[in-house]
Amino acid sequence: MDKRTQSFEYEWFESEGELSARDRELLCAARDALAKAYAPYSHFQVGAAARLEDGRIISGANQENAAYPMCLCAERVVLAAVESEAPGAVISALAICVYNPNQRIRKPAAPCGACRQVIHEKEQRQRAPMRILLQGEEGPVIALKGGRDLLPFAFGGEFL
Ligand code: THU
Repeated sequence: MDKRTQSFEYEWFESEGELSARDRELLCAARDALAKAYAPYSHFQVGAAARLEDGRIISGANQENAAYPMCLCAERVVLAAVESEAPGAVISALAICVYNPNQRIRKPAAPCGACRQVIHEKEQRQRAPMRILLQGEEGPVIALKGGRDLLPFAFGGEFL
């Protein structure tokens, strides 16, 4: 038996003010995208913005449904929007932020498990990781090198 360890490095910024102009712009786009949220049931808004390799930014937000399991997370909305607007484009970075009217979220909010899986699929498809920026409503920002760090031992097409 071997004991093995997996670890990863990520960047921690005390606020968006410490980010590069490029990352800050993407995070701002995610924040602006909160306005696109349709969240009459949870009231929890999630904004996501993807930067394409050509510099273009595509954004989206969560879309809820009275039939709760049909709710679409912001991350999957934006990943589908990319395939719709720029089929096959490589996403170099993805920013995600949240807003909860009931409590001020001051810590970075990470994507749900299902979205991690969809991010993984896109990274496999584009054969490149995407930088992932996470923030709550305000406060610290985490930057990850790629979706793999959010989903170790991921399931992927190589098993099929
Ligand atoms: N939500 C997202 O948009 N992304 C996530 O990764 C977690 C959850 C949305 C779905 C639903 O509209 C609301 O947040 C509450 O779960």
